[in-house]
Amino acid sequence: MSSAIIHSSDYIFFIEEHNMSMSDNPILFTRGNPAVEALPVDTLSECAASIFAKEGKVIFQYGHYSGYKPLRQWIADQYNTTVEQVLIGNSSMEFFTFCASVLLNDGDTVFLEYPSYDRAVTAMRRAGADVVGIPLEKDGVDMAAFEEALARKVPRLFYTVADFQNPTGVTTSLEKRKRIAELAEKHGFYIIEDAPYKALRYHGEDVTAYKEIIPEQVLYINSFSKVLSPGMRVGFMIGPESIMPTFHKWSEDTYIHPSLVTEGIVYEYCRRGLLEPNIEKLRDLYRPRLDGILKALDTHMPSNVDWTRPEGGFFVAVYLPDTVDGKALQENLKDFGVVIASGNGFFTDRKGDQFLRLPFCQMDPAEVEEGIKRIAAAIRHYTR
Ligand SMILES: Cc1ncc(COP(=O)(O)O)c(C=O)c1O
Repeated sequence: MSSAIIHSSDYIFFIEEHNMSMSDNPILFTRGNPAVEALPVDTLSECAASIFAKEGKVIFQYGHYSGYKPLRQWIADQYNTTVEQVLIGNSSMEFFTFCASVLLNDGDTVFLEYPSYDRAVTAMRRAGADVVGIPLEKDGVDMAAFEEALARKVPRLFYTVADFQNPTGVTTSLEKRKRIAELAEKHGFYIIEDAPYKALRYHGEDVTAYKEIIPEQVLYINSFSKVLSPGMRVGFMIGPESIMPTFHKWSEDTYIHPSLVTEGIVYEYCRRGLLEPNIEKLRDLYRPRLDGILKALDTHMPSNVDWTRPEGGFFVAVYLPDTVDGKALQENLKDFGVVIASGNGFFTDRKGDQFLRLPFCQMDPAEVEEGIKRIAAAIRHYTR
């Protein structure tokens, strides 16, 4: 059985194997999924029926390679950009491979945050890039390390999740964004700004996107996964006019066009003015969950343990001190009634033993508190 993710059929096995009673249910800090109760299933069904009736002959037919035009236009209006600069795709994940394929040549270097979103690391590696992890501090990457790495080799791309990063929850400060934008301009590398959590701010003020600071060198990626429904697989990329035609052509040659059916449903939902109220509802649902996990960490963690204090998003990260045997802890956390994703995948060198990613949005505060208590007990147990 995987210790990272429990599937429902594995669950009973887990209970038997560990001789646990049902009241000892393991607490799953595994995937960063939206809460199921947050999916507006009935409204989306209505939107589907309505768009199928109105636009069925368009969205069930082959269409344009850049995606369903009314949704592209809606996105362009939201972001105050031209429709030619908007490319819709089957989720934002897909754009990692598009960026890698379109922009990277053999032997190119890609900078990423260290730790970073594991699937982005994989996508860049698969494309043959030399991936360089730049240590992530609590306000963005370590600038001295960034500039040292730049002096060694100018990357082709810098991939960043600047708002409520996966896996740490860290938001990059405006000061660091401006400095990185200056460096991008001076050295000519692109910034891939992956922003799926940006709208999910529960406290504090929004920080200006790279896209606003240096639009000519940013490929901005976002999707409807975290703010509406991940099952739809509708994402989009906004980029400079100089390079977007290549991406549009890439889309056509990859799959003719992305799925117009789900794009139509998303469009109908947005056209009705429902997206912003839904995001507001999500903020109200997730805010107490973030406050709850931070309070539980303050209350139960041993004093030598450190963690991030995000103001939004899906994740809080815990950093274990060297006095804790992190490898043994991660391997055996299930014995304490907790399951987490292994920390190693988030690090370019797979050294994630001292790192725990804790997604909090799917759980109510009582469950999170119990989970944190169990993790704290495990940390005490594995302190050398
Ligand atoms: C930083 C980041 N980028 C991209 C994705 C993938 O999103 P999508 O569902 O749009 O493919 C995720 C999903 O968790 C994510 O955390």
